[in-house]
Amino acid sequence: MKPTLVSGMKPEGHLHLGNYLGTLKNLVELQNSGKYQCYFFVADLHSLTEDFDPKKKYGEITELAAEYLAAGLDPSKSVIFLQSAIPAHSELEGLLFAITPEGELRRMTQYKDKVVVKKQSANIGLLLYPALMTADILLYDAEFVPVGEDQLQHLELTRTLARKFNSRFGKTFVEPKPLTTKTSRVMRLTDPLKKMSKSQSEGCIFLDDSPEEIKKKISRAVTDSGSEIKYDPEKKPGLSNLIGIYTTLKGMDVKAAEKAFSGKSYAEFKSALVELVSNYFSNFREQKKSLLAKPQSLVAILNAGSEKARAVAEKKIAEVKQKIGIAI
Ligand code: ADP
Ligand code: TRP
Repeated sequence: MKPTLVSGMKPEGHLHLGNYLGTLKNLVELQNSGKYQCYFFVADLHSLTEDFDPKKKYGEITELAAEYLAAGLDPSKSVIFLQSAIPAHSELEGLLFAITPEGELRRMTQYKDKVVVKKQSANIGLLLYPALMTADILLYDAEFVPVGEDQLQHLELTRTLARKFNSRFGKTFVEPKPLTTKTSRVMRLTDPLKKMSKSQSEGCIFLDDSPEEIKKKISRAVTDSGSEIKYDPEKKPGLSNLIGIYTTLKGMDVKAAEKAFSGKSYAEFKSALVELVSNYFSNFREQKKSLLAKPQSLVAILNAGSEKARAVAEKKIAEVKQKIGIAI
């Protein structure tokens, strides 16, 4: 039997290059390797932990499903589903509360950053976020979880909870391992010391940006003093971020890129990058548009996937209830 792999993303509007290079590209490659039984879901429950507009949720869910498919996730190879369509996710989260230390949840960077550092208020969902994520993963006996670097802390908690449950109630869960990518951090074009994020749209390339938008954003990207095309994240963070994007999309190593652009100017490198990014995502843009024109087919794909995932998840819930003594 192939090892199981589980991953999800929140539906919160269109994805950007950081999401793609940090996570989605990896999901597609892992799926296409044929080595795993893959479960990919739309983490709609997780997206309720931040402010949201209920009128936009349907559109955000179908948009993420379209982006998954346009990037290459394939329902004939992977189970692609909607988290909230499977009550077992919330049910297992609730059952795991019994072994989840409150203190650990309060120490999570995502929560601490918002509540302690930025002094903003949060809903209880943000505090419980890693417990739900743990349920997402443990329900399917996932051995591997491909995620971006910022999710590693949550995954560590998942591993701890799996161990704790197993030692207290008997072997029930698999302890999952993270899978990260080489380009685990894409930086903001306008400020290469900060992570590219959808909240800063001018420094952020969205996967469905038009070639004109891509050109505008890359031309305005901060570069550093000097003129040589050289990868040096310490001294040239702006240029190095662009080289990172270029080499990852091209499947080329940094040394080869430096050689290819030796003697060339920053402007020449930037225009090669504009062309590469525009061409790389041209098929994605078209696919996404045509998929979104038929949202009902996207819903049908999610429903079919949810049915498959539900069968697996319900079995696990039955096992968990039996182990903790509440199956009567
Ligand atoms: P955002 O920061 O834009 O709100 P999310 O937090 O929703 O993005 O991230 C979704 C996924 O994409 C996560 O797995 C995260 O690790 C990855 N990711 C987000 N931004 C980046 C980035 N700049 N570089 C690499 N990976 C990223
Ligand atoms: N927290 C992840 C993110 O922000 C999304 C997510 C939810 C997830 N549940 C998961 C990722 C389970 C992997 C496995 O990107």
